[in-house]
Amino acid sequence: MTDHVLKTVEGGVMTLSFNRADKKNAITDAMYKVLADGLEEAEADPAIRAVLFRSETDSFTAGNDLADFAAQNASGDTSREAGLQRNVTRFLKALAAAEKPLVAAVRGVAVGVGTTMLLHCDLVYVADDARLMTPFVNLALVPEAASSWLLPARIGHARAYAMFALGEPVSGAEAATIGLANKALPSAEVDAAALAAARQVATKPMGSLKITKQLMRDAGRIADLMDLEGRHFGARLQTAEAAEAFAAFAQRRPADFSKIA
Ligand code: COA
Repeated sequence: MTDHVLKTVEGGVMTLSFNRADKKNAITDAMYKVLADGLEEAEADPAIRAVLFRSETDSFTAGNDLADFAAQNASGDTSREAGLQRNVTRFLKALAAAEKPLVAAVRGVAVGVGTTMLLHCDLVYVADDARLMTPFVNLALVPEAASSWLLPARIGHARAYAMFALGEPVSGAEAATIGLANKALPSAEVDAAALAAARQVATKPMGSLKITKQLMRDAGRIADLMDLEGRHFGARLQTAEAAEAFAAFAQRRPADFSKIA
């Protein structure tokens, strides 16, 4: 159990709050477990009618914990079973499979999965000055969470490629303009706006909500793509390029890929 993700349920809304301030809410396996358990519980419990992701701290999340990635790199475990058993896989599958409305309140940085998870949320409220980033290539990795399709589909190839390959950040204000978020607001207003939206959607007829979401998403394609991305991602985690990227982050220096064939 970890208190790095807090779970509350009130008025039909389950709220999952990132709460690991000293590491910018970087997500560990234990945190993915709370997120995955929460989503599974929300889907199963008729009293829960919406899930809200938010943060207790000034960042949404810095994405997957890079020390965890480095440990996986060092372990050399390339088995597909190891990947499938990880709680991150459970979380991503639960996100993709969620039939109930998912709402997000994003303040500060949203890196990696912090941004790709938003592609599975139905209502997204961001701070004007939030920074959304998917620097997978900088880390010698590849896109995940079906973002290799969902992100370019949402914002076009050009912008998506710059986010993936150059690690170009998108501000909250821009995210709302290009269709990554419903609304950009002053940071202090984001949580209240997202909670109000979650409460509002929680009053709607669930049968209709579920079918509407189903019609709007190609669930089969998303699942297949996540599987394919997961295989590439798992293999990339084991590479010398990834080892260099993780070491560079830990040592607070730029990565040097020039000597790796
Ligand atoms: N995994 C593990 N630790 C992380 C982390 C991550 N993804 N992101 C930040 N941290 C830690 C830092 O190591 C630092 O810890 P320390 O104080 O013990 O040294 C602390 O969080 C604060 O981070 P810092 O880099 O000093 O904050 P910043 O405000 O200058 O920058 C970020 C914030 C998020 C832009 C920067 O930390 C970053 O780029 N993190 C990596 C993001 C990433 O690549 N995620 C994976 C995507 S797949």
